[in-house]
Amino acid sequence: MIKLNEFIHVPNALEAAFTYTSDFSNIKDWDPGVAVSQKRSKGGTQVGSTYDLTLRFGPFRPKMKYTITAYIPFSKVILKGRGDSFSAVDTISFFKTPTGTRIDYEAQIFFSGFSKRTEKLLTPVLKNTGRKAIQGLEAKLSGENRIYKQSSWFFSGSTLFDYIADHMILPGMLMFSNLGYSFSKRFWAKNHETLFGQKVVITGGTSGIGKAAAIKLAEKKACLTIIARNRKKAERVRQQIIEKTGNPHVDFLIADLSRMEDIKHVVKKLRDSKKTIDVLINNAGALFNERKETVEGFEQTFATDLLGVFYLTELLKDCFASTGGRIVNVSSGGMYTQGIFVDDLQNKAVPYAGAKAYARAKRGIVILTRLWAQQMHHLNVTVHSMHPGWVDTPGIETALPGFHSLVNSVLRTPDQGADTIVWLAASKEAGESTGRFWLDRRPHETVLFPKTGESEEARQVLWEKLNRLTRPFETA
Ligand SMILES: NC(=O)c1ccc[n+]([C@@H]2O[C@H](COP(=O)([O-])OP(=O)(O)OC[C@H]3O[C@@H](n4cnc5c(N)ncnc54)[C@H](OP(=O)(O)O)[C@@H]3O)[C@@H](O)[C@H]2O)c1
Repeated sequence: MIKLNEFIHVPNALEAAFTYTSDFSNIKDWDPGVAVSQKRSKGGTQVGSTYDLTLRFGPFRPKMKYTITAYIPFSKVILKGRGDSFSAVDTISFFKTPTGTRIDYEAQIFFSGFSKRTEKLLTPVLKNTGRKAIQGLEAKLSGENRIYKQSSWFFSGSTLFDYIADHMILPGMLMFSNLGYSFSKRFWAKNHETLFGQKVVITGGTSGIGKAAAIKLAEKKACLTIIARNRKKAERVRQQIIEKTGNPHVDFLIADLSRMEDIKHVVKKLRDSKKTIDVLINNAGALFNERKETVEGFEQTFATDLLGVFYLTELLKDCFASTGGRIVNVSSGGMYTQGIFVDDLQNKAVPYAGAKAYARAKRGIVILTRLWAQQMHHLNVTVHSMHPGWVDTPGIETALPGFHSLVNSVLRTPDQGADTIVWLAASKEAGESTGRFWLDRRPHETVLFPKTGESEEARQVLWEKLNRLTRPFETA
C-alpha cells in the first residue's frame, strides 16, 4: 500500500474550492495521471456519486470506477476507487484560512496483482504522480496556466523526469518487462484455438522471438513456411521444430529480406506453390548501430525493417484465403520515441543513430498496419501490429549490449515475447478487430510523446515513397 499526504493553499473561497474539487468529473483538468473522467450517476455531487476514470499508465489506459462514500459539504469528501490494477481511498479535507482555503489530500493506493518487486519499483513514481496531481489542483484553482501542456513540456521548466513520471511512462515501460507479462497474463482466458491445416508464413523464424513463435505455431498444427536468409540455420531450426512438436508440415524458403530482388523471388515461390496464405507474420528485423547500405543502395535499417516488410506484404496481398486472412507485423515499443520522417526515410540527413533509425522504421510499420487494415478490409484480411516487450534474444544482445546487461533480470523469455504474435494469429478475438497496436493481448495507443504522431498527408507520402522505391523491382 502507498500512502500520499499532501496539502495546498488556494486563494478560492472554501465553498468554491470544495464544490470544484469534490466533483471528480473535473479531475482530468488537474491530475496529469487521468486521461478521461466522466460522471456516471445522476443528480448533484453527493454520497453514491460515481465516476469512470481512465488513467495514463505509459501506453496503457487502465480504468477505475470512483464512488463518493462520504460527503460533508465544505469540509470533507471521501472517494473509493476500484480498478484492474489498483484500488484507492482518497480523503480530501477543506479548511477556511484568512487568504482562502487549505486542502489536505490523503490517498491510500492498494495494488492488486503486482509482485512485491513491482510494487517497490512503482512506489516512487506513483508518489511523484500524486504530488503532481495536487500541484495541478493548486494551479487550476489559483488560475495558473502551468498545467502540463504536452506540446510545450520541454520549455515549461519541468524536467524530462517530471514529464516521464507525470505521464506514467516509467511504470508503463515496466510493463515491457517480464513483470508486465506476468501481470497481464492474469487477465487472459485460456485459448485453445488451433491453426489446423492453416498456411502460416513467418519471417525471421530462425532465432529469438520468431523461432519461439514458429514452435508455438507448429504446436497449433499450422502448415508453416519460414522465410530465412541462412539455409543451414533454417534447416537446423526446421528439424528442431519438427522434433519438438511432432508437426511435419514445416518448410522454409530463402531470402534476405533487406533485398527487394530476394523478396520478389521468394514471393514467386510462394505463389507457385498455389496455396493460399492464412497468416503472414512479418517478424524479421534488426537494429544496426552503423549506417550501411544494401547492395541495392538502401540504408539497411530502412530496407530490413520497413521497405522489405512493405514489399513482401504488398506482393502477397492477393494470396490470402478468400475466407479471410491475418497479417501480424512485429513492431517495437521503441517506436513510441520517434515519429516518421518521410523526408529522410533512409536516415541520411542527420548523424546516424541506430536506435532512432530502428524506432522510425518500426513507427512506419505501425502506420502501414493501419493503411493495410483499411485497404484489405474488403478482402476480409485483418492486420495487426504488436510490441513483443523487452525480450532476451540474440538480436537484442548483439544490438544493445548495454541495455541487455542493464535490464537482463527483467527481460522476457522468447516464448513470452512470442505470445501475442501467436494469439494475434490464432485467436477468435484478434480476428474481430483490425489496424491496432498490441502488447500482451491488449490494444494500446500508438502515440505518447509530442510530435511523434503523423498527419494523414505524411501517411500518404510514406505510402507513395515506399511504392516508388519498390516499383523498379516489379518490372526488372
Ligand atoms: N528482442 C526484443 O526485445 C525486441 C523488442 C521489440 C521488437 N523486437 C522485434 O522482434 C523481432 C524479432 O527480433 P529478435 O529480438 O527475436 O531478434 P533476433 O534474435 O536477431 O531474430 C531476428 C530474426 O530476423 C531474421 N532476420 C534479420 N534480418 C534479416 C534479413 N535481412 N533477412 C532475413 N531474415 C532476417 C534473423 O535471421 P538470422 O537467424 O539469420 O539472424 C532472425 O531469424 C524483430 O522485428 C525485432 O525488431 C524485438
